[in-house]
Amino acid sequence: MRLKFLPSFVKRRGRITKKQEDSLHKLDNYSIKSLSEIVSLSRDYECCKLEIGFGNSEYLQRQALENPSTLFIGSEVYLSGIGTLIGAIEEKKLSNVRIFPDDARILLDQGDESIFDEVVILCPDPWPKDRHHKRRLLQSEFIEILLKTLKWNGGLYISTDWEHYADEIRAILNHPSLKKRNSLRESRASTKFEDRGIKEGRKVYIFDYIKTKSQSY
Ligand SMILES: C[S@@+](CC[C@H](N)C(=O)[O-])C[C@H]1O[C@@H](n2cnc3c(N)ncnc32)[C@H](O)[C@@H]1O
Repeated sequence: MRLKFLPSFVKRRGRITKKQEDSLHKLDNYSIKSLSEIVSLSRDYECCKLEIGFGNSEYLQRQALENPSTLFIGSEVYLSGIGTLIGAIEEKKLSNVRIFPDDARILLDQGDESIFDEVVILCPDPWPKDRHHKRRLLQSEFIEILLKTLKWNGGLYISTDWEHYADEIRAILNHPSLKKRNSLRESRASTKFEDRGIKEGRKVYIFDYIKTKSQSY
């Protein structure tokens, strides 16, 4: 199948440890393939949240441990990150986590049922060169498909450590169905890429929005 989106990620396969490789053999036990699968699974939970591009999964793991009555769906294409998350699911007995091991846009594009109470995207790949900006995940078309799967009053939480990308994100989120809210997570622990940005002298920009009613949804 030809992907209808330009890849927004840098690579699927990097260095994989033996432990991650072993964990990846168990991916079928924890993966989901469709929005309809998520709908039926989420009936057993109070709410359902999606993290796109979970990387090393530190944020997802912490959230899943602290909120056992929430179903967490993590989407990631990077195999070593997926292997790490499977290892953590088993070691920490995280029964409330499922993985979509592919481009999140393939999942979101499957339907227009509002499912998610929150979508989180922490440090999406910045594609800093001008000629690569078209590969950035956060684009108007992407926000349109994402909004269809987000519930009313559902949260959209994004961070980036790249100023130019932050300017673009701010413009894209200026949408009739989105309203800014005061960030509830000022004190959350940072992720690997947020830490890297700070170490390299960049600021981390946070976008915390909720979906409000508009005529288009
Ligand atoms: C810069 S890393 C950030 C990882 C982590 N969120 C953090 O803050 O440390 C971006 C991650 O997003 C993933 N990614 C990029 N495009 C994606 C997509 N369309 N669907 C799912 N994951 C994606 C990449 O594979 C990569 O692991």
